[in-house]
Amino acid sequence: MTSPILVAGGAGYIGSHVALALADAGRKVVVLDDLSTGRRDLVPAGAVFVQGDVGDAGLVRRILAEHGCDGVMMFAGSIIVSESFQAPLPYWRNNVGAGFAFLDACVAAGIRHFVYSSTAAVYGEPDRLPVPEGAALRPISPYGRSKLALEWALADACSTGACSTGTMRFAALRYFNVAGADAAMRSGQVSPVATHLIKIAVEAATGKRPGLAIYGDDYPTPDGTCIRDYIHVSDLAEAHVRALGHLEAGGDSLIANCGYGRGYSVRDVLDAVEHVAGKRLDIRTEGRRRGDPPALVADSSLLKRVLGWSPRHDDLDLMIRSALDWEAR
Ligand code: UFG
Repeated sequence: MTSPILVAGGAGYIGSHVALALADAGRKVVVLDDLSTGRRDLVPAGAVFVQGDVGDAGLVRRILAEHGCDGVMMFAGSIIVSESFQAPLPYWRNNVGAGFAFLDACVAAGIRHFVYSSTAAVYGEPDRLPVPEGAALRPISPYGRSKLALEWALADACSTGACSTGTMRFAALRYFNVAGADAAMRSGQVSPVATHLIKIAVEAATGKRPGLAIYGDDYPTPDGTCIRDYIHVSDLAEAHVRALGHLEAGGDSLIANCGYGRGYSVRDVLDAVEHVAGKRLDIRTEGRRRGDPPALVADSSLLKRVLGWSPRHDDLDLMIRSALDWEAR
């Protein structure tokens, strides 16, 4: 009998897909979310839902004790690179302050398995692509620095003898660019203000906004626009379920990139959206957006090798199709 999993931030885009994948795998799920950006209706029907702050250590300890959780997954936080330059301190407060309070509560409660939502933004501008986990960590935004800070705190908490039980192990999954929606349309990307490329492009394609801008076409890439590695949210969710299974089976702590190892430029993505939607978008070019590295592509061989993960939705058109279906819904 496996114990329930606490999914912090489980009403958000990625957290809700992982909560669904856990529930689909027969796991009991407890979601903690303050609904500041998440939505109650994205939480799986059978999950326990608690509305509250992940940085409220007392609340976290009560939930962990009440439900007898052995493992947690942490998705809550602030996630927009450009916003983190305008308001860096809320990024440190939410991602590091609240994140640390959550971690501390987990350590105090004797939690044994901690899966953390990390990011490719910890690499900054990598020297070579695809970027492996061992590459230099040189985040270029407050967002990337705040995510890395908690990753380091987590690694320290899990080092021998550092936590109260000395038994916590972790998986930090470094996401590249996440897109798409659940095949059954139980969840998809929701954001009060969209900033991610595919989300904005499908909003434009469904008439929710007049058009969109390409932020910079003078990067040192073949067509001058930034290159990213887009991964379907359902494949990412699967990686989390496997990471938890790995820890529960006694596997060592691990840090793993989550991407397909293939890069698409902003123009490639917009061409694909026009093709899949069957309509032209109104696209203008603007200056570069602060904090955007020219290119990020994952070396995800560790994820495949250690967790036996293999992508099932590695197709840009299909990813865009599912994002469009969700948007039109
Ligand atoms: N872009 C545009 N126009 C838009 C929106 C985005 O040209 O309207 C461009 C950006 O400039 C960038 C690319 O599209 O070059 C992707 O931007 P997103 O905002 O979709 O995603 P980011 O790459 O900024 O960030 C995402 C996650 C981070 C993660 C990062 C890693 O939000 O958590 O991917 O690649 F770290």
